[in-house]
Amino acid sequence: MKLSIERVSKQYGAKRALDNVSFEMTEGVYAFLGANGSGKTTLMRILASVARPSSGRVLLDDVDIELLDEKYRDLLGYLPQHMGYYKNFTVEKFLFYIAALKGIEKGRAKAKIDELLQAVSLQEERRTKVGKLSGGMKQRVGIAQALLNDPKIIIVDEPTAGLDPKERIRFRNLMSTISADRIVLLSTHIVSDIEYIAKELLILKRGMLIQKAEPQHLLDALSGKVWTVTASPNELAAWQASHKVSSMLVRENGTELRILSENKPAPHAEEAIPNLEDLYLHYFDEEAAK
Ligand SMILES: Nc1ncnc2c1ncn2[C@@H]1O[C@H](COP(=O)(O)OP(=O)(O)OP(=O)(O)O)[C@@H](O)[C@H]1O
Ligand SMILES: [Mg+2]
Repeated sequence: MKLSIERVSKQYGAKRALDNVSFEMTEGVYAFLGANGSGKTTLMRILASVARPSSGRVLLDDVDIELLDEKYRDLLGYLPQHMGYYKNFTVEKFLFYIAALKGIEKGRAKAKIDELLQAVSLQEERRTKVGKLSGGMKQRVGIAQALLNDPKIIIVDEPTAGLDPKERIRFRNLMSTISADRIVLLSTHIVSDIEYIAKELLILKRGMLIQKAEPQHLLDALSGKVWTVTASPNELAAWQASHKVSSMLVRENGTELRILSENKPAPHAEEAIPNLEDLYLHYFDEEAAK
């Protein structure tokens, strides 16, 4: 299976939300990283065929998804960034309703709903009204509905927003398991969501795809540029003003700063192994500064 994005652009009035984006995906987990407004949702909506590109096209195994139409949607599982729920439906009823919309036969839907409620740890809430769930629980209902039709292409927009750490780990493991024979595309701001499981990272900046590579490859490129230094309280402000600081850890003998720098920032600085947070900072620091 191959999903190809070919020179896709999206224009909203004067705003260019996507600018000539091209890439390909095969089976595995792909992760979108990008600051707010960089175009992640816009691109995911196009891939989920709920929006159309202003120019360019999307092909599944070399056939335009607009031609495949229903056949493409049958393969698709989509979790929008802001999902609409029917508050008065119970969790179970809501999932049966979505299953019916997707044309899933009742017996099969029941088996799948049981399986998915377990996968997202909502068995005990199955008869609770959706309106009474917590934010993280609602999000898990959203994840479950995206997987109802056993989709081969899974597009989930910030699926872990609001999930507690335990449920985030469960979600990560679930995606990792099911991605063996599926294309999974997810967006996130939480870099630990994609550590270990992402086959490739896609970095979007102002509507442009500026990087697409294996995480390890991108981390290797940062090698020699991440340092730790220990600073006394009166040195902290100066370090923060002059360098990109990715973390600070208070220790007995001072504060340990993690710093991004092309050169060794101080004689006593020690080289550190780059992680995904350093990577994020490397690409999005200017954005954050604005
Ligand atoms: N319907 C719309 N009309 C006009 N502009 C839009 C519309 N949808 C998105 N945009 C603009 O397109 C750009 C990309 O938005 P998008 O929602 O794709 O970003 P994002 O990367 O998903 O951000 P976030 O991390 O906040 O979810 C933004 O500048 C946004 O304001
Ligand atoms: Mg978004």
